[in-house]
Amino acid sequence: MTRRIKIGKLDDFPRGKLMQVKVADVTMIVSRIGDHVCAARDRCPHMGLAFTEGPGACHFADGVIQCPWHNSRFELCSGKNLDWVTGFMGQPTPKWSQQLLQLGRQPAPLTTYTIIQEDGLVYVEI
Ligand code: FES
Repeated sequence: MTRRIKIGKLDDFPRGKLMQVKVADVTMIVSRIGDHVCAARDRCPHMGLAFTEGPGACHFADGVIQCPWHNSRFELCSGKNLDWVTGFMGQPTPKWSQQLLQLGRQPAPLTTYTIIQEDGLVYVEI
């Protein structure tokens, strides 16, 4: 059963800033891109590691997040995978080591959540 949970006011989500929000037992990454707030699970589909707890900072710009562990990149709003395991800690690595780091896992999208914006408030469906 889907629940609709308030996560804040629209003004709580400055444009382009990536924020961590905990809803029930799920940790999400949330950002406002243009006038729309988007949310995804704070877990990389490669190894299930948190974007917000990686070595060094995770990079987020123009609605795209780069995993701080092995550089996979995703569109936050759609969850679409753009690059899959291209390096380590923000640095590129040779192709042969990328294949080792992939651990046989195939590219996968982020788990995204439906956001509802209503009367200046932001809700997530979970
Ligand atoms: S854990 Fe994110 S790319 Fe490996």
